[in-house]
Amino acid sequence: MVEKEGLFEVAKWLKREERPLPKGKKRKKDYREFKTEEYVFEPTTLETLYKFAKRGIIKALGGPVSRGKEAIVFHALGDADEELAIKIYKLSTSNFNAMLDYIMGDPRFTHIKKDRRSVVFTWARKELKNLKRASDAGVPVPRPIACINNVLIMEFVGEGGIAAPRLRDIPPEVLTRDFELEELLKLITSYLKALYKDAGMVHADLSEFNILMHGYLEGEEVRPVLIDLGQALLLEHPNADAFLRRDVENIVLFFNRLGLKCSVEEMIAEIKNGDNAVSQDTTG
Ligand SMILES: Nc1ncnc2c1ncn2[C@@H]1O[C@H](COP(=O)(O)OP(=O)(O)O)[C@@H](O)[C@H]1O
Ligand SMILES: [Mg+2]
Repeated sequence: MVEKEGLFEVAKWLKREERPLPKGKKRKKDYREFKTEEYVFEPTTLETLYKFAKRGIIKALGGPVSRGKEAIVFHALGDADEELAIKIYKLSTSNFNAMLDYIMGDPRFTHIKKDRRSVVFTWARKELKNLKRASDAGVPVPRPIACINNVLIMEFVGEGGIAAPRLRDIPPEVLTRDFELEELLKLITSYLKALYKDAGMVHADLSEFNILMHGYLEGEEVRPVLIDLGQALLLEHPNADAFLRRDVENIVLFFNRLGLKCSVEEMIAEIKNGDNAVSQDTTG
């Protein structure tokens, strides 16, 4: 068990700026510049974090990785010093009605309580379930670990407290120089296909913002990882096809801006009809 006083380990977070970035990666002011003091936990969230500590799931809570409208993501260390990402959904979310709509359309969550707090708790559990389902189907997503109330714990994608860059964080000239873009697109298409055909799901919020380029900062072979699966839905959902199309449009637009000439229709056809192996090849 961890002492309560030992829960916050900010030293690592403060040291992060000393780490060198690879060539071509600019250090820019972004969400990582926010000070830790800006993150204030609601008392119930602190209690939930303390529960994880007592169960030996979290040993130390590090610094914030991201602050979004609905959730804050922190770096943390597990009992065996493994790196974890802790996604804390805000209890005062403004997106409550949209969350409720998604949840009500999902056959896995019937008979749920509809007050604000319960909806946020269900949302966090939905993301955990979605991650598990995708992960079981072999889609590269952060490995889900646990969820209590509004706090979701998963594998950290990155190293030394630095999250892997999002696809959109890598400058276009670096992407075109360092990657076989067609191969990268094929790989992402294969993920969407496995998600669709093997997991029976659509991401429904996919774009260059929700793909992490694992291994990039370490100079290793890059393995993209899909994140942010809270709103992912099952194929039974009446709008599943419309969401798939929107996901594909976002990805096609991103790659075509970099000079490819791919088509939304072809990519959708490949996702729905091609064979389902997740390919491994990435960098060129
Ligand atoms: N498992 C993870 N490992 C490392 N970083 C993560 C992980 N999950 C999220 N992040 C970081 O936090 C950011 C926000 O997470 P995300 O799940 O996309 O939430 P939202 O977009 O709803 O705020 C991501 O862009 C990424 O930088
Ligand atoms: Mg996101």
